[in-house]
Amino acid sequence: MYKISVVPGDGIGKEVMDATINVLDSLDINFNYKYNDAGDECKEDCGYALPEDTLKIAKNSDACLFGAAGETAADVIVKLRQEMKLFANLRPIKSYPNTNALFDDLDIMIVRENTEGLYKTESEEYTDEGAIAKRIITREAEERIINYAFKYAEDNNKSKVTGVHKANVLKKTDGLFKDIFYEVSKNYPSIEAEDYYVDATAMYLITRPKDFEVIVTTNLFGDILSDEGAGLVGGLGLIPSANIGEHGGLFEPVHGSAPDIAGKGLANPTAMLLSAEMMLRYLGENTEADRLNDAILTVLSKGETLTPDLGGSSNTKELGEAVKNNL
Ligand code: NAI
Ligand code: MG
Repeated sequence: MYKISVVPGDGIGKEVMDATINVLDSLDINFNYKYNDAGDECKEDCGYALPEDTLKIAKNSDACLFGAAGETAADVIVKLRQEMKLFANLRPIKSYPNTNALFDDLDIMIVRENTEGLYKTESEEYTDEGAIAKRIITREAEERIINYAFKYAEDNNKSKVTGVHKANVLKKTDGLFKDIFYEVSKNYPSIEAEDYYVDATAMYLITRPKDFEVIVTTNLFGDILSDEGAGLVGGLGLIPSANIGEHGGLFEPVHGSAPDIAGKGLANPTAMLLSAEMMLRYLGENTEADRLNDAILTVLSKGETLTPDLGGSSNTKELGEAVKNNL
């Protein structure tokens, strides 16, 4: 019996979470769900975007499933990642059938540093002239994430890791990142190491994305490149993510609360379902993870029950039900 903290959050977060829990309930695993609030609505109701209780239960669970927050995202998900010390953010960019993917055979893993960089919100401040944000790069955190990326490559039969930075301009912070990247790479002689500037990478992801296998980068760059990656494979409705630390894992779609489609049943639950699959693998439940992945692939391949973002006319619940029926 796994203790799972479930935080649906705002907007379509709730809708894709409902569809996903419905599918998880059909697997041969027992979950004990602890539902907790967080996000914009929660802040309106109780004054806090991330109540202490939500954080405490997330910390004391075997894994956490998160839907999406709205305008309070920085106070909710960024804080959860930092408070739970979930240093590695894994964002797979993978092509699926019937998804209007620009490329039909991509399989890239973006490994994003999750705890520092420009996203340490407490180090942003107003000044007399305007405002200022500090970009924090520590040797410890960068070594940890780069090691994680190379280890990931080794464990998953990948042959290359690409370090992405802007060391020509950010000479100190990204200069350090680049140095550490090549230092760490020496411990993995069988994995090729290459590095690019982030602006060039943004272009290469469009002109020759198949050359990438594992990308490791700092917090903000990883956030942006993963949304670009989503665009390459058919949109945000398809991109899951895992946040992994030494003592915890939190699994969430890359997308936000999507106020433009919230409450209409239009949201694609695939990203949330694939996030649940990543959770199952984290828990060591690979057989059930494979079963879930097969069912998702079957539904997408058949193309009969697709949400509007994929050109279909089914709703969130119907796509979820279809996955459940194909387990
Ligand atoms: P968004 O990811 O919510 O939406 C961007 C676009 O993608 C929208 O057109 C939306 O309809 C579409 N989309 C997203 N997920 C979809 C799905 N599952 N199925 C079909 N279409 C989907 O990003 P946006 O619009 O920039 O931000 C909206 C709110 O979400 C903001 O308040 C923002 O702060 C928050 N946000 C929260 C995140 C989180 O909780 N992790 C991440 C990103 C944004
Ligand atoms: Mg983002």
